[in-house]
Amino acid sequence: MTMPETATRPTATRSTTTRPLVWEEKWTLDKIVASVEDPQHQKIRLLQLAQNEYGFLRDEHMRYLADSIGTSYTDLYGIATFYAQFNLHPPGRHHISVCVGTGCHVKGSKGLMQKIQEILGIKENETTRDHRFSMKSVRCLGCCGLAPLINIDKETFGRVKPTHLEGILEKFE
Ligand code: FES
Repeated sequence: MTMPETATRPTATRSTTTRPLVWEEKWTLDKIVASVEDPQHQKIRLLQLAQNEYGFLRDEHMRYLADSIGTSYTDLYGIATFYAQFNLHPPGRHHISVCVGTGCHVKGSKGLMQKIQEILGIKENETTRDHRFSMKSVRCLGCCGLAPLINIDKETFGRVKPTHLEGILEKFE
């Protein structure tokens, strides 16, 4: 068996490098702000639109949006980190969802999460440096009879044991 690429334990990428925005980004973000009625009270919607546009929420975009609507970066950052729907890192080519709902929790989802962290070198909500994988926890994927389970992209793996994970991850280039 060939060693999976993940055995190199890539470290997580971070989106915290700030850089000046180019005019296209400002134009796009201005358009997003203008499209939301009462954006000061629709901050979640604002962040959703920015994420839809760029795939994740960049620090510099949140700063620009915060200035545009007269709030603080900390305010938007707090919302972005509170709700699981928001990504602060560029998504990987493959997205792993680990179910941590009650059914999966009692069947060992915590061990799966730890093993994935160990193999890939990333924590929840992070992306591997090679952009191969990103990972999140989710609540009940609706197949509790297969607990514990994980999803990778659109594929579901049920009754997963930590020892299965390297083999599963190998399938995703
Ligand atoms: S708790 Fe995991 S699928 Fe329901």
